[in-house]
Amino acid sequence: MVCLGNICRSPLAEGILKEKIKAYQLDWQVDSAGTGSWHIGSLPDYRSIAIAKKYNMDITYQKARQIKHKDLDSFDLILVMDYENYRDVMKMASNDQQREKVKLIMDFVYPDRQIDVPDPYRNDDGFEQVFEMLDEACEKIIELYQK
Ligand code: 4NP
Repeated sequence: MVCLGNICRSPLAEGILKEKIKAYQLDWQVDSAGTGSWHIGSLPDYRSIAIAKKYNMDITYQKARQIKHKDLDSFDLILVMDYENYRDVMKMASNDQQREKVKLIMDFVYPDRQIDVPDPYRNDDGFEQVFEMLDEACEKIIELYQK
């Protein structure tokens, strides 16, 4: 799960997908990272922690990190929150196998519509919508890939 800062959207995406993985008893590994380096080592944003808590999820075990080239080999899917993240990660990719893994997360709900999960950093009221979008997308991801 990749966003810009790895403190607002992608920590929620990581937390939500992990909850569903547990509920569906799947054996998947999930991590999150940011394209930017400003928040390395930080906890998720307090507003993401709060919205997660509202839905009975604890994401305070997470620490922000920056995406590295090796992630594009280590993971089967690189799910990005918006088109800016998509461009930044595609710039890092060095072969087609890596490029094919990079997908806009909302494509799982609205294929080919290029819907961004909006950056809520400067919008206190945006976190509820972010949670709902990510919850919907993660549910689709489970439906699609669980065997
Ligand atoms: P995120 O949100 O990419 O969802 O973690 C942001 C967090 C921090 C900044 C921008 C977006 N920032 O400019 O520091």
